[in-house]
Amino acid sequence: MEHLINPTVKNIEISGIRRFFNMVSHYKDVVSLTIGQPDFHTPEAIKEAGIQAIQNNETGYTHNAGMLPLREAIQHHVDNEFGLKYQAESEIIVTVGASQALDITLRTIIQPGDEVLLPGPVYPGYEPLIRLAGGIPVFADTTQHGCKLTSDLIESHITERTKAVILPYPSNPTGVSLTEEELKNIAAVLKKHRLFLLADEIYSELVYERPHTSIASFTEVRDQVIVINGVSKSHSMTGWRIGYLLAPEWLSRHILKVHQYNVSCAASISQHAALEALTNGKDASESMRKAYNKRRTYVCSRLKAMGLEYAQPDGAFYIFLRFPLGGKTTMERAVQLVEEAGVALVPGDAFSEYGKGYMRLSYAYSEETLKEGLDRLETFINKN
Ligand SMILES: Cc1ncc(COP(=O)(O)O)c(C=O)c1O
Repeated sequence: MEHLINPTVKNIEISGIRRFFNMVSHYKDVVSLTIGQPDFHTPEAIKEAGIQAIQNNETGYTHNAGMLPLREAIQHHVDNEFGLKYQAESEIIVTVGASQALDITLRTIIQPGDEVLLPGPVYPGYEPLIRLAGGIPVFADTTQHGCKLTSDLIESHITERTKAVILPYPSNPTGVSLTEEELKNIAAVLKKHRLFLLADEIYSELVYERPHTSIASFTEVRDQVIVINGVSKSHSMTGWRIGYLLAPEWLSRHILKVHQYNVSCAASISQHAALEALTNGKDASESMRKAYNKRRTYVCSRLKAMGLEYAQPDGAFYIFLRFPLGGKTTMERAVQLVEEAGVALVPGDAFSEYGKGYMRLSYAYSEETLKEGLDRLETFINKN
């Protein structure tokens, strides 16, 4: 019967990250610097709000778009933090993580054969969603541009079939973010070509050099932009599965139909926890940000001392290292690093072919773990 399965689904490969883990899972005493989620527990007050929601029997369906108090909290949050103006009643949808927001947005706007432009290297979650929606992913190689999707790169990859651009900054896997000037230039291209843009801003709270700017703050492109965000990374809530999207009313009402028939609503208990996070959770989020920043400074200084190159990371909790391969493939080199040095980094080609010759290091780990992992990496670099 397998031949009857949708070929688009059959052709989706398991992620490079999963393949790498399958290859190295049997090694013992490995320091892993691979994880893509915060290492902190969800703050106590947020957990308590979830527990209270259960005790209060807040366990039924909510409004399809999410309970109104949460949407109002999101409205105030994005206004206070990024100056974005979206109406809770009609322009905000609470989703099952940022992942579902991406999926329902793509399914709302993409028709078979539409091209979606995205930077490479990039988070591996987008390509399968684009393909499942019938679209064609078109990667722009950013490695010669500081790992940034520039307005010129966008312009040079646009064809008559381009429907949307994905702008995922601060970036997983590179940690790079865009300046206001760079975003302004992208907004100008967007305006000229009448494209949609999905701004995946899930790391917007984890920025270290300057406040985060959302491309949706350029009002001339507000009608073309869908902002995707959530509490997974900002409040260490990946397992609660709460994201949200911001889109103009005329678009959001169509996305809401896909959302409604897909999941009805995000989990009510998690929505209560997210309400607490976005109402009273700023201090907790800020103290995690400070801890990441301290680790970032430490890791960068160690990597510099080893002579390893990387694009300057100013957001998220990743560093994308240019890695000497010694004649091996990127995957083989990552496996060798595990075997011989006992340290795991994610091979860069898990983030598209443009990540060949790179490794992603995550600093969402304790300072002690980072020190041990970097000591091992240093020994390997000195030997190879
Ligand atoms: C860039 C990016 N977007 C989206 C997601 C998914 O977020 P969520 O867990 O809220 O679905 C991740 C998770 O790693 C990510 O790195």
